[in-house]
Amino acid sequence: MKKSIFRFGKPYIWAFILAYVVYGCYYFVSDDTPPEWQGDPTAQDQAAVAAAGGPGAAVYNAKCAVCHQMDGQGLPGVYPTLVGSDFATGDPAIPVRIVLNGFQGPIERNGQKFNGVMQPWRNDLTDQEIADVLNFVRTTWGNSAPEIDPATVAEIREATKGKAGAWTEDQLKAAM
Ligand code: HEC
Repeated sequence: MKKSIFRFGKPYIWAFILAYVVYGCYYFVSDDTPPEWQGDPTAQDQAAVAAAGGPGAAVYNAKCAVCHQMDGQGLPGVYPTLVGSDFATGDPAIPVRIVLNGFQGPIERNGQKFNGVMQPWRNDLTDQEIADVLNFVRTTWGNSAPEIDPATVAEIREATKGKAGAWTEDQLKAAM
């Protein structure tokens, strides 16, 4: 009897496998590759977020995403998430102070402990940039908090200009 490659299984199984292989080859050589797959993925992400979020997204990508990540979720136990964060979305007095002077632990969020230090941005970001980046954070990833005016940032900048070191949680709660 003639030997057949089909002797280990039913012919339709081989037909399925062959169809998959053909489809896979087609998928790779076809020109349907989405454009996001080409070029530098980081630059692509940044361009997409910037397009979606305006000037605040550009500041976020440049200054915040390295720790809080592009999706705002932070890193477990290292950088807290900004998604649904009461401190990010609460009274403007809190997030503005955090960005101006930094923030240090220990804190606990969603059952996780953090004990890091966020640096101050007082000398790096203008009132407009701080308002922009916080408005991006406050209205992205499902967050929806009222916008912050650059004039509010200017007032808080002036009121806290003597502040030394990063804020602690107790100090921020007292500022609310
Ligand atoms: C070098 C890493 C780093 C960068 C960059 C950084 N952060 Fe943070 N951020 C932290 C850490 C760490 C904490 C929490 C401090 C702690 O561990 O107790 C924090 C906390 C926060 C919080 C409070 C979150 C909460 O729920 O308590 C906000 C809001 C925030 N950051 C906003 C920003 C924004 C906006 C930027 C960009 C301008 C930024 N961060 C850049 C490290 C960073």
